[in-house]
Amino acid sequence: MSSSRLPGFYKMKMAERLRRLAEQLELSRDEMESLGESATLPLSNADAMIENAVGVLGLPVGVGLNFVINGEDLLIPMAVEEPSVIAAVSLAAKIAREGGGFRAAADEPRMIGQVQVTELLHPEAARAAILAEKDSILSAANALHPAMKSRGGGAKDVEVRLVQVGTETHAIVHLIVDTQEAMGANLINTMCEGVAPLIERITGGRVRLRILSNLADLRLARASCSIPFEALADFGFTGAEVAHGIAEASRFADADPYRACTHNKGVMNGVDAVAIATGNDWRAIEAGAHAWCARNGRYEPLSRWRVADGALHGTIELPIQVGTVGGAVKANPLIPVLLKMMGNPGAQKLAGVMAAVGLAQNMAALRALGTVGIQKGHMALHARNLAVSAGAKGSAVEEVARALIAAGEIKLHRAQEIVASMVAKRGPSAVT
Ligand code: MEV
Repeated sequence: MSSSRLPGFYKMKMAERLRRLAEQLELSRDEMESLGESATLPLSNADAMIENAVGVLGLPVGVGLNFVINGEDLLIPMAVEEPSVIAAVSLAAKIAREGGGFRAAADEPRMIGQVQVTELLHPEAARAAILAEKDSILSAANALHPAMKSRGGGAKDVEVRLVQVGTETHAIVHLIVDTQEAMGANLINTMCEGVAPLIERITGGRVRLRILSNLADLRLARASCSIPFEALADFGFTGAEVAHGIAEASRFADADPYRACTHNKGVMNGVDAVAIATGNDWRAIEAGAHAWCARNGRYEPLSRWRVADGALHGTIELPIQVGTVGGAVKANPLIPVLLKMMGNPGAQKLAGVMAAVGLAQNMAALRALGTVGIQKGHMALHARNLAVSAGAKGSAVEEVARALIAAGEIKLHRAQEIVASMVAKRGPSAVT
């Protein structure tokens, strides 16, 4: 595996970045063309994907650099509209490298499908009857997707929960399905609908909802890292000070749901960006992550940081329901190229990688928040955007941005004045 360290990548022109990536990943001409200028979802695909389609909406796709996950260098494709997210995660991954990078793992891809059984005279007896017929329910479910079963996946188990809904007790049947490389929503929903008549016969009740649960808590992904203090020193703070700042921010998130929510938003900046770049349903992941955070009766942070033995230790655990095959992955010609960028991971590996990206993204935010604040970094990017708006191109963008920051006034009119003065002194080529 080639390195995920690409020094100076951010300074290159986009065409140069593409050439660098194509070389490193041995991309074919077609694959390279699906990135860059022509990277868009064909209108005909968009029309087939959703109803009433009238166009496609572009989103920047970038590369998270410097990641080492389980000893392997990985380039991380990220689709995100928010400035700073990719720069921040790449910096955090660079810092984490000093401690050997991230360890990550994910459970087998087991999803839960729910079949809600209502109008039960004897809910306990219904529950026992369903469990007694577990094998026939599993066979009926698997008969609907024999290929999935032959690949080692498919319906694996049946559980029943009795849930009080208003004045009634419903039997909620959980069909546990191994979805292999798929996210599995269609597979599970088909199975839940398919076994419903059998469950009605077994229980004498009436089935209502038949749908997957996005609280995918059998499909957890986790990541951790340990970073020596020396790697954390920055902004005039010692590494120990930065580490303690991060650990204190983590305790704040533990203590206060208002903070935990924002802390988790930072985690999801990274997780969602990878979900989108890999064609996954980020709303499902978001719903699952936040429900998971509230599992103990109060809303908690997804990740935690503590200081011990001269190092900062971070951990994260969250449900990640993703696939690397299926509709959305096939529909967009860019996605297979982005998956190739990560070495074509399977669903389980991708889930672990996303947990590591979430942890890195969180570390980047807490590192800045616990020291100089995040606006400093945001302002540097804002300055670059203003430089571009004022007409600067190429290396002049950095020069104008630096001058803006030095002037302490990051405003468009100031950028225009700087551009005008560069042109007056050195001619028009000074800003192109
Ligand atoms: C902004 O998109 C994310 C942060 O607010 C996360 C955090 O506060 O931890 C910076």
